[in-house]
Amino acid sequence: MALLNLVLYPDDPLTKVAEPYTDVGPEVAKLAEEMLETMATYEGVGLAGPQVGVAKRILVARPPEGEAMCLINPEIYEMEGREEGEEGCLSLPNIYAMVPRATRIRVRALDAAGQPIDFEARDFPARIIQHEVDHLDGVMFLDRLDILTRQGKLQEWEEVRERLLAAVVRG
Ligand code: NI
Repeated sequence: MALLNLVLYPDDPLTKVAEPYTDVGPEVAKLAEEMLETMATYEGVGLAGPQVGVAKRILVARPPEGEAMCLINPEIYEMEGREEGEEGCLSLPNIYAMVPRATRIRVRALDAAGQPIDFEARDFPARIIQHEVDHLDGVMFLDRLDILTRQGKLQEWEEVRERLLAAVVRG
């Protein structure tokens, strides 16, 4: 099974709104498997289509104590509570920030087989899903910060990105 390449901020299609699936065929289950494997390899807890160059509304997640899930065309239709928690992102390696998120959400989606699912998530799993659904709308976790903190983090990221890309070139 192939590991997928991670797209680093601000490369395409990370900042674009992803397209919904109109049909969930067998290639979607394969993509979900590859995304889960890529996520595990890079020690992430969630990964969205645009982060692997797929501008479609698909995400995978595996909370530390929970089961792996794949959500197609996810929709958060209830949000409650608000809490700050630390987040990072596989598209912004080494950058972390405290991000406010709802503590309880309800989600509708299709699973990787195209079956409708509807469930509630709280706390950390709810945070992961909110972070990943943001990716489907072209929103990075830094966009959820106040403007000064965001600017500081973006500056930090510029330096990190330069070092990462230099390392890649050196092989
Ligand atoms: Ni992310």
